[in-house]
Amino acid sequence: MKRDYFGEGIAERYDEDAAAQSTPEAVGPVVEFLSNLAGDGRALEFGIGTGRIALPLHDRGVQIDGIDLSSAMLRRLRSKPGADSIRAVEGDFASTNLGSGYGLVFLVFNTINNLTTQDEQVACFQNAADHLEPGGYFVVEVGVPNLRVLPPGQNLHTFHLSESRWGIDEYHFATQDFTSHHFAVRDGELRRMSVPFRYVFPEELDLMAKIAGMSRLGRWAGWEHEPFTDDSTMHVSVWQKSRE
Ligand SMILES: C[S@@+](CC[C@H](N)C(=O)[O-])C[C@H]1O[C@@H](n2cnc3c(N)ncnc32)[C@H](O)[C@@H]1O
Repeated sequence: MKRDYFGEGIAERYDEDAAAQSTPEAVGPVVEFLSNLAGDGRALEFGIGTGRIALPLHDRGVQIDGIDLSSAMLRRLRSKPGADSIRAVEGDFASTNLGSGYGLVFLVFNTINNLTTQDEQVACFQNAADHLEPGGYFVVEVGVPNLRVLPPGQNLHTFHLSESRWGIDEYHFATQDFTSHHFAVRDGELRRMSVPFRYVFPEELDLMAKIAGMSRLGRWAGWEHEPFTDDSTMHVSVWQKSRE
């Protein structure tokens, strides 16, 4: 049984913690990008969460379904206006199948990294392809592994430092995994949460797509089609399922 890192305690604060990524300015370009690819077809979000992207996409007229491991996140989604016309199913997006005929499957906000083995990430690409109609699109938004910030001999990177919160990523190069350690002082108590991830390079994702019968249509450094360069820290990639 896969461990759910988005239980009640995380789900209740999720929308507040993701407020900066949920503004119309942040979400607008994502919705524009995805609705252009969806056209009149059905869309499926892997890791739909509380509907940060799915709800505004649905408001744009895209018919959307979703899969998520966390019942607590799905409960929050279902309590929101508009969510009753979104089919949201509890399950693992590496293996749960909702049928075929989707024009678009998407997986945003670094959520591919939540699959902590290569086999699971490969299975996720196959699962996306299985849902897609011929010619359909799979979109992934994920950070480029930021190993360049590490000086030789180091495997720890501080990604957040403020009065009451600290975040440290711990990298393991031999296994290509990393753990994000979050420390926070809340109600006078120090709390720690450590979440395991697998980092993955863009070219490895292309290979996973190829194995699943998809080929790369484009890669950008952001949702507004910014060019992807040596210095890009994240990418939005689109693969297309073969028409045959
Ligand atoms: C970072 S949140 C992103 C939520 C939403 N897509 C957004 O953009 O706000 C990651 C979501 O993926 C879900 N998730 C993580 N691993 C999963 C898996 N293997 N199968 C299904 N859902 C998963 C989590 O429960 C969580 O709701």
